[in-house]
Amino acid sequence: SDPGLVERARAAKAALGDRVFVLGHHYQRDEVIQFADVTGDSFKLAREAAARPEAEYIVFCGVHFMAESADILTSDAQRVVLPDLAAGCSMADMAVLSQVEKAWERFAALGIAGDVVPVTYMNSSADIKGFVGRNDGVVCTSSNAETALRWSFEQGSKVFFLPDQHLGRNTAVLKLGFELSDCVLYDPHKANGGLTDEQLLAARMILWRGHCSVHGRFSLDAVQDVRSRVPGVNVLVHPECRHDVVTSADYVGSTEYIIRMIDNAPAGSAWAIGTELNLVRRLALAHPDKQIMFLERNVCYCSTMNRIDLPHLVWALEELVAGRVPNQITVDAQTAHYARVALDRMLALP
Ligand code: 13P
Ligand code: SF4
Repeated sequence: SDPGLVERARAAKAALGDRVFVLGHHYQRDEVIQFADVTGDSFKLAREAAARPEAEYIVFCGVHFMAESADILTSDAQRVVLPDLAAGCSMADMAVLSQVEKAWERFAALGIAGDVVPVTYMNSSADIKGFVGRNDGVVCTSSNAETALRWSFEQGSKVFFLPDQHLGRNTAVLKLGFELSDCVLYDPHKANGGLTDEQLLAARMILWRGHCSVHGRFSLDAVQDVRSRVPGVNVLVHPECRHDVVTSADYVGSTEYIIRMIDNAPAGSAWAIGTELNLVRRLALAHPDKQIMFLERNVCYCSTMNRIDLPHLVWALEELVAGRVPNQITVDAQTAHYARVALDRMLALP
């Protein structure tokens, strides 16, 4: 990366000292990750944000929903900064509050709302987390989805899972032993969600029709292709991948799990990884004794994660040095209250 910018980022961070804490998601660019005080998956970063009451500014190198969660979990005096406001998440955008409320009204009209526990993946707007908190549900991440679902099925007989159909389906089937037929897909763009009353009454998992545009691209063909090219290869994928990809893989888990697996893998072993490319590239560079490859042949960055680049980070840090707070992410008090209820329930899971 540009040496001038590297030097400016270093100087701005030094000038701010402990007043700033920089969080970096594992999918961030190398040029940005080098300035993160801590790196992590979305679960770890939520915890880290909540554990830094002394930092006046949290600079979140990740996407919008993560910065919102950090604002909810930190004190009112702390400011959360997203270096580029255009760093959103296409999956989070697939669930809009008015659509979710409409689905909930349908459940109420059917007389099942009292049996349904809403669960939202961290990758959702603060609005959706607030809805879930108001309705006695919980947030989950890819590293605690199984625990969150088990807790939810102690509270009610059905789960309404937002917004990632794949994480919901994969966790229910692979971790809880459900049948695929226990899951139905609620499509907000179809009349009645595209589901009959009978389907909703019989379902145990009502999955929102959302997906990750990065992980949704990995295919069963790619798994078969790499297995034929690289004998003995271990296929390791994120649970946001499609069900057929996940069932044909050898290992499935969150980004933190993927990193742990590679850290502990024996020298000489071969790994095809189905997650975002910045992370896979860093893993390959850090483990030259292992054969680490990307599961797809096509390039597959998360375009919104990649919007946070060094120029944006430098700009944000220099603004803070100048006494201005750029791109502050704030969640209104009422939404934050209920979203926090749902987040705290997650953080209290065993
Ligand atoms: P985790 O960080 O929970 O593994 O989620 C991956 C992801 O897609 C984040 O946007
Ligand atoms: Fe959203 Fe997928 Fe990008 Fe994560 S990787 S921010 S879920 S689009």
